[in-house]
Amino acid sequence: MTDDAISSTEPPIAIPLGDDADTTRIGAALGRALARSDVVLLSGGIGAGKTALARAAITARLARVGRTDDIPSPTFTLVQIYEADIPIWHADLYRLSVSDEVYEIGLDEAFETAAVFIEWPDRLGAATPARVLKVELDFGPKGEGRIAVIQPLGPGWAPVMDALKDAI
Ligand SMILES: Nc1ncnc2c1ncn2[C@@H]1O[C@H](COP(=O)(O)OP(=O)(O)O)[C@@H](O)[C@H]1O
Ligand SMILES: [Mg+2]
Repeated sequence: MTDDAISSTEPPIAIPLGDDADTTRIGAALGRALARSDVVLLSGGIGAGKTALARAAITARLARVGRTDDIPSPTFTLVQIYEADIPIWHADLYRLSVSDEVYEIGLDEAFETAAVFIEWPDRLGAATPARVLKVELDFGPKGEGRIAVIQPLGPGWAPVMDALKDAI
């Protein structure tokens, strides 16, 4: 195998999310497919559905171990941590003041050991991992529904992308 093939990424896919149920279904499929050190960057404006997608994913993965935790938005806490069969971190970096806080809250370590969802990932700056799943959420035409554009960067995303395609 060439270096090129090892580092090659899948092409992006656009998934229309017509309503809340679509967001929940796609989020659940994502949550079930994740492994440790999978980092999901959730971009999009306020109300685009970043928290809704992460909540669906975390809920589905916790169900695997019989847990029914509430999944609050981490807007004020910066990070919420869940123990499913693997650890899951859910961060909202909107209020991050200095990028050093990324290290203070231990996100760099979580990138290696947990599945991680990050809202407002532009705040990561230089701490952004090289291997990430970028999820860009946008409002649909006329403000109805949402569209998710999903772009894997780095190797090893095929199982996640396959699970997402199966859930469309
Ligand atoms: N596919 C969809 N179509 C319409 N509304 C949606 C869809 N998915 C989620 N929503 C709604 O949009 C809002 C998204 O809020 P939230 O997830 O908190 O956004 P963000 O975290 O991006 O600021 C919620 O009210 C949710 O019910
Ligand atoms: Mg949010």
